[in-house]
Amino acid sequence: MTDFKQQAAQEAAKLIQPGDTIGLGAGSTMIHLITAIKATPGLAETLTVASSSFSTRLRLMAEGFTVKESGWLSRLDWYFDGCDQFDHWLNALKSGGGVHTAEKILAAMADNFVLVGDSSKQSVRFDSTYPLVVEVIPEALSYVADRLKRSFHPTRSELRLSVRKDGAVITERGNFLIDSWFSPFPEPVDLNDQVGAIPGILEHSLFFNLAHKAITAGPDGIMEWS
Ligand code: 5RP
Repeated sequence: MTDFKQQAAQEAAKLIQPGDTIGLGAGSTMIHLITAIKATPGLAETLTVASSSFSTRLRLMAEGFTVKESGWLSRLDWYFDGCDQFDHWLNALKSGGGVHTAEKILAAMADNFVLVGDSSKQSVRFDSTYPLVVEVIPEALSYVADRLKRSFHPTRSELRLSVRKDGAVITERGNFLIDSWFSPFPEPVDLNDQVGAIPGILEHSLFFNLAHKAITAGPDGIMEWS
């Protein structure tokens, strides 16, 4: 069976030049990208690499990459990441993995932020499939939950629970995650401005006006969006 995420990752790897400083996000497409970089002769050992994801960092190290802490870098040539969905204007909804705060920092640092995935990720507009995720500091949990409900009227808004459902998911920074679904999805510009202004939210998972390009692969072949 054709793996479209692998195809898109192989296309994305062609953008990287020897000596570049790159960042990689989270998810299965990023694992394919690591494989594609390794398969490009003379490339991997010349790169400076950072990642927003613990599991991607582990995979990079297992493949022999030296992974730099992003706090010691102020810019990247490229940041590659998957997403849950991206719209016609290259706004992206992320955070299947709950690490959108670190992802957004690397995306903002990059001269080029490229979304990579299969063609199912593309949608003209966001719909009710994927939630907006907010990372909330513990002191603000109930206040933020209430503000989200009163201001945006989500169809569902939930504290993210661990797989065993006997506790909340705690992020790498000791915070909570709230997932909120909307129908219809609010205007991204409004959501970005208004949710970003609520005290106690460290970061939200709408990547508004940050991506420069998207590469997808699907039954119709490779597509590039910019
Ligand atoms: C993590 C994400 C991932 O990039 C997203 O879940 C896509 O993953 P995959 O490459 O497995 O489709 O947003 O926060």
